[in-house]
Amino acid sequence: MQYIIDSAHLSKIKKCVEFYPIDGVTTNPTIISKEKTDFLKLITDIKDVIGPDKMFHIQTTSSECNMIVEEAKRLREIIGENFYIKIPISADGLKATDICKKEGINVTMTAIFTQQQALIGAKAGADYVAPYINRLDSIVSDGVHVVEEIVNLFKIHDIKSKVLAASFKNIEQIHKTALVGGHAVTINPDLFENLVYHPLTLYAIDDFEKDWEGVYGNKKILDLIK
Ligand code: G3P
Repeated sequence: MQYIIDSAHLSKIKKCVEFYPIDGVTTNPTIISKEKTDFLKLITDIKDVIGPDKMFHIQTTSSECNMIVEEAKRLREIIGENFYIKIPISADGLKATDICKKEGINVTMTAIFTQQQALIGAKAGADYVAPYINRLDSIVSDGVHVVEEIVNLFKIHDIKSKVLAASFKNIEQIHKTALVGGHAVTINPDLFENLVYHPLTLYAIDDFEKDWEGVYGNKKILDLIK
C-alpha cells in the first residue's frame, strides 16, 4: 500500500520524507491556503523536498474543462516527473481527465463519494480515484465500505486505476482501508506520526535501555566491538 502525506506544510513534509517510507504528497486548495504563502514558491519548494521519485498531486482550482487542462499542462511543466493533476469529479472534470491523459498527464480524480463516481472516473482514464473516508463516515455512510466496493469493482472489471483514499481522522479508518485493499492512503503528517506511535513501544525501548545500562553502563555496541 502506498502512504502519501496530505499536506503543504514544508517542514512537516521534510520530516516525513526524511524519516518515513512515504510515496508522495497530495494537496488541495484548502491545504495550500492554510500556508498563506506564494503558491509557485511553495509547490517548487515541496517538489525540491520530495525529489523526482515521489508523487506530487496538486488540485486544479478551475472548474471549466479547458482551464483545468491548461492548469495541468503548466503545472506539469513546473513539477515535471511524477506530477498528478487532481480534478474533482464533474462533467468538465471527466472531459479534462480524458484530454490530460491523452497529453500524458497523470490524473487523480478527487472528491469521490460514491462507487459509481469512482468507476466513471476510472473509465475516463484517471490513474487514481480519491474517496473521502471521514467525510463519508460523518454523514452516517461508511467510507471504508465505499473503498471496498470500489476496489472490488476495479477487480471485477479489470480496471488499472487505483484507489487513493483520503480524508482520514483516525488510525482505525486507515487500518480498515488497508484491510479492504485500498491501494493508497493520504494522511496528514500529525496522524501519520500517530501511526508509528504506541506507548508500549516506548516502554519496551525504555526497558531495553535500562537492562543494557545495568551491565554495560553508557557503552554502546560499537564501543564493545571495536
Ligand atoms: O484532499 C482530500 C482530503 O484532504 C480531504 O480531507 O480532512 O478535509 O476531509 P478532509
